[in-house]
Amino acid sequence: MTAEDKAKRIFAERAAFYTTSTVHADPAGLARLVALAAPRPDWTALDIATGTGHTALALAPHVNTVIGIDLTQEMLSEAERLRAERAAGNVVFRVGDAHRLPFGDASFDLVTCRRAAHHFSDIGLAMNEIVRVLRPGGRLIVDDRSVPEDDFADRCLNQLDWYHDESHVREYRPSEWRHMLATRGLSLESLEVIVRHRPLSAFTDGVSPENVAAIHRLLDGLTPDQRASLALADVKGQPHLNHWYVLIAAHKS
Ligand SMILES: C[S@@+](CC[C@H](N)C(=O)[O-])C[C@H]1O[C@@H](n2cnc3c(N)ncnc32)[C@H](O)[C@@H]1O
Repeated sequence: MTAEDKAKRIFAERAAFYTTSTVHADPAGLARLVALAAPRPDWTALDIATGTGHTALALAPHVNTVIGIDLTQEMLSEAERLRAERAAGNVVFRVGDAHRLPFGDASFDLVTCRRAAHHFSDIGLAMNEIVRVLRPGGRLIVDDRSVPEDDFADRCLNQLDWYHDESHVREYRPSEWRHMLATRGLSLESLEVIVRHRPLSAFTDGVSPENVAAIHRLLDGLTPDQRASLALADVKGQPHLNHWYVLIAAHKS
């Protein structure tokens, strides 16, 4: 089964959760992304792996048109329901794969991809597609899970995320993002690393009992140094650990 087959299966089951997920619907985070995109009223925007459409709908009042694409029809059905509720007439949702964008070259002023690049089975191919559909000068905004520049934390967090969601492929270090952008003619405007100390339930909620057990085994086996590098600690009786994110703005040269 490919990562894309797994994503379709897992996100079909979790679609309703993503509509109301406080992390994904977070208005402050969405406002931040929109501000970074600095959209203009005549722009055409593409939101890749739009899920239930939070990012596409946040952009809608600021641009001419937004197209949101996603692999999973069930996520798009939720997105369409939210679109109708908000009467966002300039947003269109359609099924599509980030690795084969169904659009011509230089079709978009803005491409966004939020909390999804870590699911793509071939990030290089997906990045090539993003560059192809952006017009020269067009802007890319990526918001995704990430890992610090540390071999242990990189391996451990990627493993935890796979147990959380078996369609997970890889969350990248800031240095990997810089390299991916620079080698494709994308000029970096800003790259912010955001670290949040979150409860372990962020990894275990909605996960199979086998994978929850595997997460506990992995964490129970860590050395004190390894625990410290993840900031693994009890907060009010609940284990918490750091999650890393990147928020990137770049444009096509
Ligand atoms: C966490 S959700 C996205 C959240 C959404 N971007 C937001 O801002 O709320 C991840 C989405 O990635 C989609 N996805 C995974 N692989 C994909 C691919 N290759 N092409 C398009 N969508 C993909 C899944 O179907 C899922 O809806």
